Order: sequence, then C-alpha cells, then structure tokens
Amino acid sequence: MKFASRMQRLGTETAFEVLVRARALEAQGRDVVHLEIGEPDFDTPANVAAAGKAAIDAGWTHYGPAAGQPDLRQAIADYINRSRGTAYGPENVVVTPGGKPIMFFLILALLEAGDDAIYPDPGFPIYRSMIDFVGARAIPLPIREENDFRLDVAELASLITPRTSFLIINSPANPTGGVLTRADLEAIAQLAVDHDLFVLADEIYSEILYEGEHHSIAVYPGMAERTAILDGFSKTYAMTGWRLGYGLMPVELANEVSRLMVNSVSCTASMVQRAGLEALTGPQDDVRAMVEAFRRRRDLMVEGLNRIPGISCLNPAGAFYVFPNITGTGMGSKEFADRLLEEFGVAALSGASFGEHGEGYLRLSYANSEENLRKALDRIEAAAPATVAAR
Ligand SMILES: Cc1ncc(COP(=O)(O)O)c(C=O)c1O
Repeated sequence: MKFASRMQRLGTETAFEVLVRARALEAQGRDVVHLEIGEPDFDTPANVAAAGKAAIDAGWTHYGPAAGQPDLRQAIADYINRSRGTAYGPENVVVTPGGKPIMFFLILALLEAGDDAIYPDPGFPIYRSMIDFVGARAIPLPIREENDFRLDVAELASLITPRTSFLIINSPANPTGGVLTRADLEAIAQLAVDHDLFVLADEIYSEILYEGEHHSIAVYPGMAERTAILDGFSKTYAMTGWRLGYGLMPVELANEVSRLMVNSVSCTASMVQRAGLEALTGPQDDVRAMVEAFRRRRDLMVEGLNRIPGISCLNPAGAFYVFPNITGTGMGSKEFADRLLEEFGVAALSGASFGEHGEGYLRLSYANSEENLRKALDRIEAAAPATVAAR
C-alpha cells in the first residue's frame, strides 16, 4: 500500500506501546506494576458518571453543535475565568473529544511549511508529531533539571527567529511535573508579544498542583488574542476514557477549529458533554481527595527514589509524574526502561521518548496505589546497576 508522504512524519506516544508490551507479559502470567500510562487510577466521580448515564436515558444521543453544547461552553468559560482571571465567553470555547484534538486542530489551523514552532523537550510527544506532520519546523526548547524543569526564558529568546510563529508551553508539565512561575509566564508573554508568537498553553494538569495557585499566560497584556488554553476533564475528573476536553481561544480561531470539528468528528459525544457539565458545576470533593492522594504518593516516590544509589529525583510541584535522573546507574534511559519491564516487572517510560533532552531520565506515573508504588520502588532498586555494584 502506498501511504501519503506526510504519514512518515507522524510520531506517536510510547506510553500506549509500553502498555501493550506490559499486557503481553501479564498474559504470560508475569506480575507488572503499571507506571507507564498517564491517567488517574481513580474512578470517575459517582455524580459525574450518574449524569452521563441519566443523559443517555434522557435522549442525549443525537448530534449536537460542532463547538459544543451552549451551556457546557458557558460553564467552561465561567470555570476558566474563575480559576485564571480571564474574560472568556462561550464563543471562545470549543469542546472536543479529549484535550488532544485541540493540539491537532490548532496546529492544522495555524502552521505550515515555512513556519517554525518551538515546543518543550522533554515534552508531550504529540506536539512534535503534529508540527512535523503539517510540514512546519519543530524547534525543541530544552527543559532542564538544573532549572527545576522550568523552561529557561533566555534560552527561549535565543531560539526565536523571524520564522517563529508558534510556541507551546505546558505547566504543570508532562513528563517532568515542572511548573512555570508567574515571573516565567510574564517574561514569556512579553516575548510572545514582541515577536508576534501564538501560544498554545497546555494547562491540562492545572488542578493537579501541590503548591500555590495555577497561573495562565492568557491573562498578561496582549495575550488573550494570541493564546489558546488547552484543558479538559481527563486528568482532573479521572475521565480519560470518556474523551472530553476543550480549548479557549480568540473567536476567529474558535470558528476555524469548529470547521475542523465539522470536517472530522462532527461533534463531541452528547451524553459525555452532559457528564462534563455535572463535573464542572457539581461538588469538587472527589477532585480534592484525588490530589491529596497524589501528593502522598509523590512524596513516597520522591523519597524512595532518592534512597536508591545512582538515582536522584526532584520533587515535582504538579501533575502525577516523577522524572528521576538515572545517569548514575550507567544505563541509558531506554535500556533501563526495557530492563525494568522485561526483567523486573515495572512498566516505565524512557525519558528519551519525550525528546532527546529526556535522555538520562525515566518517567514514572504515580497514579497507582501506595502498595504498588512500594513494590515498584523495591524492583527499581533491584534493577539499578549501581545498587548491585555497591553491594
Ligand atoms: C500534556 C498533556 N496534554 C494533553 C493531554 C491529552 O489529554 P486527553 O486525554 O484529554 O486528550 C495529555 C494526556 O496525557 C497530556 O499529558
């Protein structure tokens, strides 16, 4: 079969491949602790699940508006304005099946050959995949441990050329858990305004934050007209399988993204949007309990990893990942991740699967029980060559 040449430029997300390999090992009777996949292990809150079920019975089983149901778009604008201090209306909101399509649609709508787009490395792999796919040039912005896994504003400034039109930021970040400060965001906003950059602010982990408040770049002067906020229900409400996310952007861009919706999926599932409305407007206790559980697990992982010779781990301020430095083990990231899975029964991701600057690290999701995390820590310790040498 002959494929269009653009298919060669399309990347992927390793997490799904590692999951398949881990499941194959389990099918052979092996015990595997899953730290590879980026989703809460909690169930969707009961009130939200009930709203989804009731919506099916109430007949929310038909097509709806491409950009989303009007009351849900209003509730999303209200929530974002409340939590960020922005001034969006429902006309700025596009509801999509998960947050991921917002990346896809924005990049399709805004980038083409001749454009440069700066993206975080290590970062969510789909950013680079989509930039490459549309034929634009992907410029990696190194995210360094020395800088607490925050982007370095001076380094960002050094990468901007007259061709640069697009910048992706992600805070709290996957895979590092790094969080940008207010001062970082203000300086990035100034660069965006000075160089006429459009910013995709991926804020999908905004509620999974252990210190301070979430800040958005969209609030700085001149930014509302050049920012799209990506957020959604997958992580905050443990709704990954429902597929419900959204973007907030200038109206003329929202109209273009809606046209891409019409041309692809038509609309987001109607009953799923009703569940989303309940998630945003109903009680938030389950979200708070989940974040507190993640905080305890983060502490357990960071402490446990730092006790293993050859491994060191920063304490991430957000999301549910740790990104330990494994260079002291003498092993490469992929080599260590493969050894962990195949010989020790821990599914982890190589840092390098998030970009070349992720080499020397592993990404471990701690969205798993404390019992399983302890088991994983013991196995990682057994797998770390430095431990063997020390004995
Ligand atoms: C940084 C980041 N952005 C966006 C997404 C996409 O989320 P969704 O499942 O809602 O499409 C993810 C999911 O892993 C993510 O880590």
